[in-house]
Amino acid sequence: MTMGAGSGAGIDRRALIAGLGATALAGCAGTQAQLNTPPPPPAPGALNSVPTALEISAAARSRGRRFGSAVAAGAFGTASFADRDYANLLSIAGRVVVAENEMKWQAVRPGPGQFDFAAFDRIVAGAEARSMAVRGHTLLWHRPRWMPDWVNTHDYGVRPATAAAAMLVEHIETVTRRYGTRIHSYDVVNEVVEPSDGSLVPTSMSQAMGGITDTVDLAFRTARAAAPHAELVYNDYMGWEASSATHRAGILRLLEGFRARGTPVDTLGLQSHLTATADPREIVAQQREWRAFLDAVVAMGYRLIITELDVSDEQLVADVARRDQQLADNLAGYLDVSLDYGVMGDVLTWGLVDRYSWLQSFRPRSDGLPQRCCPFDDMYRAKRMARVIADKLGAARPVVAASAT
Ligand code: G3I
Repeated sequence: MTMGAGSGAGIDRRALIAGLGATALAGCAGTQAQLNTPPPPPAPGALNSVPTALEISAAARSRGRRFGSAVAAGAFGTASFADRDYANLLSIAGRVVVAENEMKWQAVRPGPGQFDFAAFDRIVAGAEARSMAVRGHTLLWHRPRWMPDWVNTHDYGVRPATAAAAMLVEHIETVTRRYGTRIHSYDVVNEVVEPSDGSLVPTSMSQAMGGITDTVDLAFRTARAAAPHAELVYNDYMGWEASSATHRAGILRLLEGFRARGTPVDTLGLQSHLTATADPREIVAQQREWRAFLDAVVAMGYRLIITELDVSDEQLVADVARRDQQLADNLAGYLDVSLDYGVMGDVLTWGLVDRYSWLQSFRPRSDGLPQRCCPFDDMYRAKRMARVIADKLGAARPVVAASAT
């Protein structure tokens, strides 16, 4: 199904545009005086994207899903609620957000006995002011590279297994109890599988505890006990590319192990950081592999969620029109398969606007041109990728509720 322009059913576009400024002020600790002051007009690109943003939201809703994106806690000029145009786009297209960095150990756990929730609290407040749901990312990113230095060098003392377990439990209980039902879904464990051989990556904590599976299982069991309402997700970046076959096999082994041990994992998080190919035959081959993988995951009783969608164009030509078309073709092929599952839940992108994407610095193009990896461009105009998201969400298989699976 393809939705027509402006099919944000029942929404008065003029009223919406008039209200954009007020929406932006709400949640930024705006005073009544601020709210009574007519806001400056939004950027023209942001206005032009409103119909597509409305379509994305309506299309997701029509199939029982929410669309959403990562958001930061930064100032104006970042992918944050403080950037009015970004906030408006996010709150029109999306109903759910995830903090790009602000709930990670590096952000909330500056030291063994210290917690700092200031930045993440700003995101939660900004989301709630816009009636948006919040996902938690992540309670345990199981990679030394992304742990704070103090964790990697921590002295676990004479009873290391007990001390490491206590530290992990304290962390998960502190975060989940602080936010209670305000967070409905957690990436409990992120990226424990090594892509090159499918093995499990150790950390200082798992070495102290004497086992990686023990550590990961403890994280899920603690999360279930402390946040029984929440969806518990194992989140990873195994892709649909042929080069990810070993990674996918490792993920399947991990998921089988969870089931064999009775570890409470509800959902596999598909990060969905795609690398676009210029060869349409490759897209078809990838679809076959991806469907086989998702079939195997679903057969084990897991639900699915797209947690960090974006498309790297590092292998594509410079020409913007061709590049955008190829990006859209890759995304369409991926969503055709991924949204063909009733157990697929919400769909979140890892940013909405090209310029703020992590890919600009982590995966720069060799020609120095900026990546066009997100659904909206730097002027907040909808690109072909945004069109694909609206169309595919509208054509997706409807969500089957968790209790019905
Ligand atoms: O905020 C500091 C800034 O003060 C400092 O000047 C600057 C200098 O390097 O660093 C800034 O922090 C950076 C932070 O992003 C905010 O921009 C960190 O160095 C950088 O490591 C961090 O990268 C994040 C990365 O995860 C590591 O945490 C990316 O933004 C974020 O997009 C990325 O997200 C991950 C998901 O969590 C898991 N899945 C893969 C995904 C992409 O790598």
